[in-house]
Amino acid sequence: MNIKSIRFRLTLWYGALLALLLAAFSLAVYWGLDRYLRSMLIETLAAQSHQIGDEWLAGIATSGEDYLIDEIREHVSPENNNRFLRVTRADGSIVFQSDQPRDESFNPAAVSKVSISTDEGMRQERLPCGKELLIYSLPFHATGAGDFLIEVGASLSQINNTLHGLVIIFLATLPVAIAIAAVGGYGLMRRALRPVDEITRSAERISSLNLSQRLPVPATGDEIERLSATLNRMIARLEDSFKQITRFTADASHELRTPLTVVRGELEIALRNGQVPADIREAIESTLEETERLSKIVNDLMILSKLDSGQMQLEKSIFDLGELAASTTDQLTVLADEKQVSLSCSLRSQAKVEADRARIKQVLVNLIDNAIKYTPAGGRIEVSVRREDSNAIIEITDTGIGVPQEELPRIFDRFYRVDKARSRELGGSGLGLAISKSICEAHNGRIWVTSIPGSASTFSVELPAAEKEVS
Ligand SMILES: Nc1ncnc2c1ncn2[C@@H]1O[C@H](COP(=O)(O)OP(=O)(O)O)[C@@H](O)[C@H]1O
Ligand SMILES: [Mg+2]
Repeated sequence: MNIKSIRFRLTLWYGALLALLLAAFSLAVYWGLDRYLRSMLIETLAAQSHQIGDEWLAGIATSGEDYLIDEIREHVSPENNNRFLRVTRADGSIVFQSDQPRDESFNPAAVSKVSISTDEGMRQERLPCGKELLIYSLPFHATGAGDFLIEVGASLSQINNTLHGLVIIFLATLPVAIAIAAVGGYGLMRRALRPVDEITRSAERISSLNLSQRLPVPATGDEIERLSATLNRMIARLEDSFKQITRFTADASHELRTPLTVVRGELEIALRNGQVPADIREAIESTLEETERLSKIVNDLMILSKLDSGQMQLEKSIFDLGELAASTTDQLTVLADEKQVSLSCSLRSQAKVEADRARIKQVLVNLIDNAIKYTPAGGRIEVSVRREDSNAIIEITDTGIGVPQEELPRIFDRFYRVDKARSRELGGSGLGLAISKSICEAHNGRIWVTSIPGSASTFSVELPAAEKEVS
């Protein structure tokens, strides 16, 4: 699980918000229920006090106190109902006081005495044992018998027990509810964001080689569809600019070719003229050399633009890469001998590939030519071919000047040379490796280099093999 993903962060926020809401809701329910239960209890206590006064205490002058006590025991039965009940005379003496309630939740004897002249109303009293009682007091005048105070009370523990139960229910269910909501939310978000994953995967596959591809556009009418469509329009614009650049290179090199041929022809004709003085002849010769070089660059650019635009027709055939490497090495031995470097080819296993033989040969010539150019006299160049899994690999290792570490990623760029002056002197223009790379990629292969600066380089080319390995 990626904790930085939108999915995770949204789930976290959503879970936290839900927890907060549910906590606020629980508090409101708790508070409301507390208020409701208290007011219900107060109403009952008030009703009972009035019942005692109106029905039994009012006629006490004629019916006597025993009658009152009997009626209370029979109808109110305070001990059985866990109530506190006290009737006090004006002088403070007690007519009736209930005993310990059945649930033993409080001790009636501990309830404080209050003055007979208190107002009618509610009081809350904390007993020495810690229990809280709600007590309703009703001053009452009985004709012919004087003033009395009726007190009816009940312990708060019943209400507290109910609230306690509620808290336990909340504590048990809320975390489960939040967890279910979070897991469900995570799953839903995963579904909603799946198109984003698909877009990311497709975008990852698009490069300059397949700019005609487009991202999937889910027909959902939402932000993701819009994003995908916008990205597609951007890719279309990129494709357009890319095509323009390639077309420009192609057109420019094409346009340059004809005048260059003409210039070369004219120069060659001029050279054949025996009357041209020696110094002018020299000038013509060096101009011709530069023109040839220019032609080569123009040619290389044309090949590159064809490879870029995918117009290069690969004439594929099945051939043995080892055999091609051997014959190319043979042909270039003359060059190597001239520079006094040894050039050898070793084949480790047969490696058939299905490829454009002429283009692959061009890659080999480029690489071996570079190796010869950048290896001082007395050095060694080794070409080897081998099979590795489902690939054929050629390695060209030299004991030359090597490539500095920081230049390695750039030497396959167009016109990039580590030492421009030196490359120029050697007749290079910095397009050889760029062409080689394009050719390899057009064959679904790759090219890379490892080097020890100052002492060695190894250029490797990997192409998909044409058949399964023969063991
Ligand atoms: N075998 C090698 N040893 C050292 N440097 C090399 C080697 N091959 C290529 N390079 C470096 O990579 C650069 C680009 O090579 P390339 O594209 O063939 O251009 P060019 O050969 O025209 O200079 C060269 O200029 C050189 O600096
Ligand atoms: Mg080169």
